[in-house]
Amino acid sequence: MCGIVGYVGRREAMPVLTEGLRRLEYRGYDSAGIAVHRAGKLAVYKACGKVREVIGTLPKRIRSQTGIGHTRWATHGVPNDINAHPHCDNSQRIAVVHNGIIENASTLREQLLTQGVEIVSDTDSELLAHLIARVDAERLDDAVRTVLRSITGTYGIAVIDTAHPDEIVAARNGSPVILGIGDGESFVASDSAALVRYTQKVVYLEDGEVARLTASGYEVSTLDAAPIARAPAAIEVSDGSYDKAEHAHFMVKEIHEQPECIRRTLRGRLDKRFHSARLDGLNISAKELLSFKRIKVIGCGSAYIAGLLGAKLIERLARLPVDAEVAAEFRYRNPIIEHDTLYLAVSQSGETLDTLIAIDEIQRKGGTVRGIVNVVGSTIARKCAGGIYLHAGPEIAVVSTKTFVSTLIAFTLLALFLGRMRDLSPGEGRRLIEALESLPDLVDDLLIHEADYRRLAAKYAHYDHAYFIGRNYGYALAMEGALKLKEVSYIHAEAYPASELKHGPIALITESTPTVVLVPDDDLVERNLASIAEIKARQGPVLAITQSRAQCNGTMVDDEVAVPVTHELLSPIAMLIPLQFLAYFAALERNCDVDQPRNLAKSVTVE
Ligand code: G6P
Repeated sequence: MCGIVGYVGRREAMPVLTEGLRRLEYRGYDSAGIAVHRAGKLAVYKACGKVREVIGTLPKRIRSQTGIGHTRWATHGVPNDINAHPHCDNSQRIAVVHNGIIENASTLREQLLTQGVEIVSDTDSELLAHLIARVDAERLDDAVRTVLRSITGTYGIAVIDTAHPDEIVAARNGSPVILGIGDGESFVASDSAALVRYTQKVVYLEDGEVARLTASGYEVSTLDAAPIARAPAAIEVSDGSYDKAEHAHFMVKEIHEQPECIRRTLRGRLDKRFHSARLDGLNISAKELLSFKRIKVIGCGSAYIAGLLGAKLIERLARLPVDAEVAAEFRYRNPIIEHDTLYLAVSQSGETLDTLIAIDEIQRKGGTVRGIVNVVGSTIARKCAGGIYLHAGPEIAVVSTKTFVSTLIAFTLLALFLGRMRDLSPGEGRRLIEALESLPDLVDDLLIHEADYRRLAAKYAHYDHAYFIGRNYGYALAMEGALKLKEVSYIHAEAYPASELKHGPIALITESTPTVVLVPDDDLVERNLASIAEIKARQGPVLAITQSRAQCNGTMVDDEVAVPVTHELLSPIAMLIPLQFLAYFAALERNCDVDQPRNLAKSVTVE
């Protein structure tokens, strides 16, 4: 989704900004642009399309020490050159980049038009540039503050002004803004990816805060100009995490990183003495944890699906009722918030707005919410006052792979921890710990079969529709398999509980609609084999993902991938690996943009 980068300092701004835009590409975007000061004027370069296309339009050498850049994901106005950011006022004095949505944009637009302002784009963001230019203030930050007090909606912004060529003003309300503090230089970005190459010292702006950045430092204040003291924090992300290394795409690189991600999520958290888990970051006392009667998980996309699986894991080990719900659905229905429910918000980025607003709703009604989050210091992580960090490292491909697995590991640890507080036996705890410890090697063994998955994907990639079915854990996994496939290969894929097949979808089963059937080695093998027989009786091609003891011998599957048997609760992770590869290689077969699928964004910061 939209990304912001800005630079003021001792170096040439342009290379820092173009590099920043490249680092923001992974979030998903449709246009990009840059504005810098040049000889007392603004030079603005922007275009619809890829960052490299904007970079291609830049003059060979532009000497400038201050500038801002943006990747846009269209909300107001179609993706085109004019709607791309930065936006300027009519006198070309102010340039603004903006993430978020201005809700009173139509009123503001009318007001500006009656005042004779020429508005060139369809965006809400352009209005900010005109409004700031029209404030009579000595200081740019004062002008920005005056405007922000008159708007409603969400924003992360960065502003430059030819009258103040040595500074950038940034502000935040609902859209992340991070300041990067260097030596004789300052940065601003919506995502640390655009900063880590230059500095690891950052300041997170909170909602309702404004920052003024110069080469020599930064000032943070409220919308009412009250100063705020905010010391920088350190981010622990290495620059190498943003390179594909020897891999063709980030998606496949991240699939291969999964054994290491599992180790990182587990590190220091296995309590072998009590056959439990150590989750100090939850920041809830044992007494309080025991008082919760149920758990509710919220999230979006793959985070929600991981939550569905997590709910089953906790229910199974801790015997607590747990359910998962899409964050936006949860908050739109004016949910009942109960004091004996523990709410868990799941988010890779920690910035998904629907999840964030659901958390606000829970907290406003006095509920207890904790985060399961990957990005350290992200808004959701900070809002939740505790939780479980995944420590999976940056995930760059738009579709989630390694953080989905790390989220399942985090849920397994939580299930173990809560289970051992209740009536899970030490023996069961020990068996799960042993299985968790050997899981990275098991996943490594699955990764070796990449060429086999590729052959299968080539066989199935030409179909236009596919079903994914399973029961219990298998159903939640089917949802993730179908989501992955449709996200990256654009094959229409739907997941169903296997038992629901006969209640509708079976009408669409023909020789041109394949079904991926998930057959874990559990009590439901016979039932799943019966579903396969029903599909085969209608000439539907079947690709079965099984576990070695639950083979489909005797049933007529077209293809079978058998993964090794592991602890029942970890089998979804083993069975997920072929599904991830299936999606990846199907996308390659169909020449799709694997890392930045059409219309998708990594971090969805709009409602
Ligand atoms: C977007 C991404 C998905 C992701 C979802 C939730 O839709 O494309 O891959 O699962 O957002 O993101 P989060 O950062 O909250 O996990």
